[in-house]
Amino acid sequence: MYARKIYGLGAALVILAVFAMAQQPAPTEGKLIRHVPVKQTNPSSGQEMFASYCAVCHGTNGSGGGPAASALKAAPTNLTILSEKNAGKFAAMHVSSVLRGEADTPAHGSKDMPIWGPLFRNLSQGHDAEVQQRIANLNGYIESIQKK
Ligand code: HEC
Repeated sequence: MYARKIYGLGAALVILAVFAMAQQPAPTEGKLIRHVPVKQTNPSSGQEMFASYCAVCHGTNGSGGGPAASALKAAPTNLTILSEKNAGKFAAMHVSSVLRGEADTPAHGSKDMPIWGPLFRNLSQGHDAEVQQRIANLNGYIESIQKK
């Protein structure tokens, strides 16, 4: 249990290094890797959290192709067509389990899609209610950007 938590945080920091790398003006050769602290966000704003944590890979509008996408092996999913791919229904449970790292999807355990549960727990200083709130509001935001 404890070891798993530590592992999760480690993974999150590695991912953040990818962020920093992708956001740096591209040097001519090689890329700098820098660890950056996770930015604190308002747990009540799904939009703010999406912009801070997800847009770098999934794109500002959620349709994929964010600035870090080219540094990844797997292409970040187009999050605006999740309902379309699921017979018109938005699968909030699925999104929650992906974020918690419990989903049985290709994303599970992949180094390219960070597992957010432990990172949110860290940001929220272990307050589980706030972690739930973050996941619920991210879910609401992703639902709001579904293609109609
Ligand atoms: C470092 C890049 C990166 C970041 C940051 C990132 N993702 Fe992802 N995400 C991916 C990749 C890559 C996949 C596809 C993984 C695969 O197919 O194995 C994915 C898949 C997903 C899926 C699964 C979609 C499906 O079809 O089941 C969801 C949901 C998701 N991301 C939501 C988010 C949310 C919400 C955030 C922000 C909290 C986020 N992602 C941040 C790279 C990222």
